[in-house]
Amino acid sequence: TGMFTFDPGFTSTASCESGLTFIDGGEGILLHRGYPIDQLAEQSSFMEVAYLLLNGELPSPGEFDDFQYTITRHTMVHEQLKTLYNGFRRDAHPMAIMCGVVGALSAFYHDSTDITDPVQRKIASHRLIAKMPTIAAMAYKYSIGQPFLYPENSISYTGNFLRMTFGVPAEPYEVNPVVEKAMDRIFILHADHEQNASTSTVRLAGSSGANPFACIAAGIACLWGPAHGGANEAALNMLHEIGTPDKIPEYIARAKDKEDPFRLMGFGHRVYKNFDPRAKVMKETAAEVLETLGVDDPIFDVARELEQIALNDEYFIEKKLYPNVDFYSGVILSAIGFPTTMFTALFALARTVGWVAQWNEMISDPEQRIGRPRQLYTGPTMRDYVPLGSR
Ligand code: CMC
Repeated sequence: TGMFTFDPGFTSTASCESGLTFIDGGEGILLHRGYPIDQLAEQSSFMEVAYLLLNGELPSPGEFDDFQYTITRHTMVHEQLKTLYNGFRRDAHPMAIMCGVVGALSAFYHDSTDITDPVQRKIASHRLIAKMPTIAAMAYKYSIGQPFLYPENSISYTGNFLRMTFGVPAEPYEVNPVVEKAMDRIFILHADHEQNASTSTVRLAGSSGANPFACIAAGIACLWGPAHGGANEAALNMLHEIGTPDKIPEYIARAKDKEDPFRLMGFGHRVYKNFDPRAKVMKETAAEVLETLGVDDPIFDVARELEQIALNDEYFIEKKLYPNVDFYSGVILSAIGFPTTMFTALFALARTVGWVAQWNEMISDPEQRIGRPRQLYTGPTMRDYVPLGSR
């Protein structure tokens, strides 16, 4: 490979040093700052995980109060931003709106685009985390033609998001604690995942000195793809397409057929080759939510049966393909009432915490340089230009 290491898809290249997240794909281990994901998902909260990822340690009660106070002080978006929404078609995909609106934040918060100032970097980080629920909820409200709701700072981050999404000005909105807990857990499970495609995109964009709002917009664009964050939407659409358990073998056969581009969405992972620890928590949460809400969704049965059949199929065993975080999240989100088009926007909301933490880590790294991969050139060798008339 000449001067360079050839590593398409970066399967064996470490692009940075990072102290945030540890993954052991063989053992199915995921740690944030050393803490196992299942303990965080079961005992912590999304805001606490956000603090942990940003600051390196769990907060003391006082630090946690201050952090939550700071975040709630940034939940509103500039009033002028509303007009940006009005420029979109009502049937615009929420991810298209998110790319545009988050990118546009740099035009509204000029002060925190100065990445050389650590204080401004912190403010930009808090702004992004705080405004994401407002921005995502507004995308939803716009799509269904209901008025935008302002944030309500006396309730939790996640409760407030549910209220801005499902509430209406005409009546008070009661946050269902089971739904709030499940939503918060989904956010925790999506908060960070080391150098995945969208996080690497954020780092690469940030390595040139681009402002944090532009970098997160780049991350959102990358996350949208069905091989990445778009898989949660694609997985639920697939389960609906399968519809009934008797159709499962047909789809399993298609997934195994190399002539057919179809893949089982929500299955397989670049790093996890044993199981995805997030999927385990997600499956349990799906069962809890469906039971509490009294939702009898046949799609959950299709999902469980599909998982069983695939886990016992030679192809999936040999290729080490297991359900990933996106396989069961859609079942929960639709039971809560989200349309499939919102699924990836919710992933973006949660992953903003990881993106922002990784971006801060990169900017503060003294070794940080612009990310500039090389290539193996496969084009023509040098040749002489032929004028148009002589071709
Ligand atoms: N269904 C059927 N076959 C699959 C699947 C699948 N879901 N995933 C991988 N394979 C096969 C693939 O065809 C290939 O076979 P062969 O060796 O014969 O060519 C082999 O398994 C290895 O796949 P790969 O594409 O080389 O693996 P990768 O590490 O590049 O891709 C992946 C990982 C997650 C993109 C892939 O498994 C996939 O496309 N899964 C479906 C989409 C999905 O659920 N994505 C969410 C990932 S987790 C959350 C997130 O990152 O956002």
